[in-house]
Amino acid sequence: MRAFATIILFIFMVAYRMVSGLTKERRGHSFIKIGHRGAAGYCPENTFASFNKALELGANYLEIDIQMTRDGELVIIHDPTVNRTTNGKGRVRDFTLKEIQSLDAGSWYHSKFSKERIPSFSEFLNTYAGKVGLLIELKKPHLYPGIEEKVANELLIRGLVSGENNQVIIQSFDQISMKRIHHLLPNIPIGILIKKTKINGLSNKELESYVNFATYVNPKVTMVNKRLIRRIHQHGFKTMVWTVNKRSEKNLLKNYSVDGMISDYPDLLK
Ligand code: G3P
Ligand code: CA
Repeated sequence: MRAFATIILFIFMVAYRMVSGLTKERRGHSFIKIGHRGAAGYCPENTFASFNKALELGANYLEIDIQMTRDGELVIIHDPTVNRTTNGKGRVRDFTLKEIQSLDAGSWYHSKFSKERIPSFSEFLNTYAGKVGLLIELKKPHLYPGIEEKVANELLIRGLVSGENNQVIIQSFDQISMKRIHHLLPNIPIGILIKKTKINGLSNKELESYVNFATYVNPKVTMVNKRLIRRIHQHGFKTMVWTVNKRSEKNLLKNYSVDGMISDYPDLLK
């Protein structure tokens, strides 16, 4: 009887160690620390200065916003106009690449960044692909017919479409656009961005509608609670929360076992 109890106890201990070890390994291995627009808390957003700072601060992914110029070139900028983040005025889609890259994209933040320019997507990929994970947001893609094909092509010619190690993730608020990307690049993980109030939370019906094309459901931090994260996980999605700029938010989200956090201050995520 005693021997039997010892054997049961032994089996239980081995099983427990295996399960807890795997869980730890999974958490440690897969947690994603994303620099939002690079390190937008320290540098002018979506510039090389910002991306380099994010890497220096330990980000293992860079988040960027993509839009398109008049001559069909992909550029990295958040707003549909250049007004807020450059010394120019006007809509991104009314500039050629050459014109938009002649603008100063750093002085609005601080004079020491006056040499910063709006990066093209191609320059960005040439510099960072393979060195750090890329979280690519298609910003207002309905303004830019054909943008999905252009993005897909830039990734295809660089061999970045295997989906290996989640090296590239593409996300948007626009579900139609993300379905298109999924059709073009079926191995690339897709994220759906969600911005709602806690009260008008995300319904199961909505979650179910993402199942066929998305891997991530990424909510705004202000709408997150433990139950929402659990429901996202129960539907089989991973989740990366944005924009996590407070230590208190980070600590809470750690307890909810989110898969990644997106921050203007990537050092906060260490
Ligand atoms: O990565 C998510 C987040 O960037 C979405 O909002 O406005 O900062 O692009 P926004
Ligand atoms: Ca973004």
